[in-house]
Amino acid sequence: MKFFIDTANLAEIREAQELGVLDGVTTNPSLMAKEGITGKANILHHYKAICDLVDGDVSAEVIGVTLHDMIREGEELAELDDKIVVKVPMIKEGVKALKYFSEKGIKTNCTLIFSAGQALLAAKAGATYVSPFVGRLDDISTDGIALIEQIVTIYRNYNYETEVLAASVRHPMHIIQCAEIGADVMTGPLSAITALLNHPLTDSGLAKFLADHQKAGAK
Ligand code: E4P
Repeated sequence: MKFFIDTANLAEIREAQELGVLDGVTTNPSLMAKEGITGKANILHHYKAICDLVDGDVSAEVIGVTLHDMIREGEELAELDDKIVVKVPMIKEGVKALKYFSEKGIKTNCTLIFSAGQALLAAKAGATYVSPFVGRLDDISTDGIALIEQIVTIYRNYNYETEVLAASVRHPMHIIQCAEIGADVMTGPLSAITALLNHPLTDSGLAKFLADHQKAGAK
């Protein structure tokens, strides 16, 4: 399973990249705003800075909601770097944009997916990735992981090449569950990725190994 980090924070992206397990980055307008990145020139510059940091795909979201605006913005984003994946919302004009970009060989990520039907439409339109939001479904007492499983099954039934990118991942158990059911990619915060490192028996075991080594050396 590929690990993407869901942030526009360069320090966090660098830290994940240095860990050696990072396969890509996803961003969205809220994450860009959180970093204080505003204005077209700054936004494009920031996406380029992210691309320069990582080896892998970088999702950059369009703001426009008409087909014309999505195509214009998406083409401009795609020209920044080969790593750019144009992120398009799951709306009617977005489906048309997915088809357009797919025919042009521009990678896409269809975002704000909350149902299997939406995921099916995005795959038929040729999306490179679909992003079902696990955490936001859990937030409204709906099983986000069950949706990932349903989409994985549907795509396998018909050999769709669209990759299932489990988004809105919030904690390490989401990552494990996504891996168990065969999601192609997960995206989440650095804290969810680094939480996979933790086990109290690892910490106590290492402390004992080091203490025994010290004792032996002292003899
Ligand atoms: C998807 O690519 C989104 O950026 C993201 O995963 C949303 O996550 P959130 O629900 O934690 O905001």
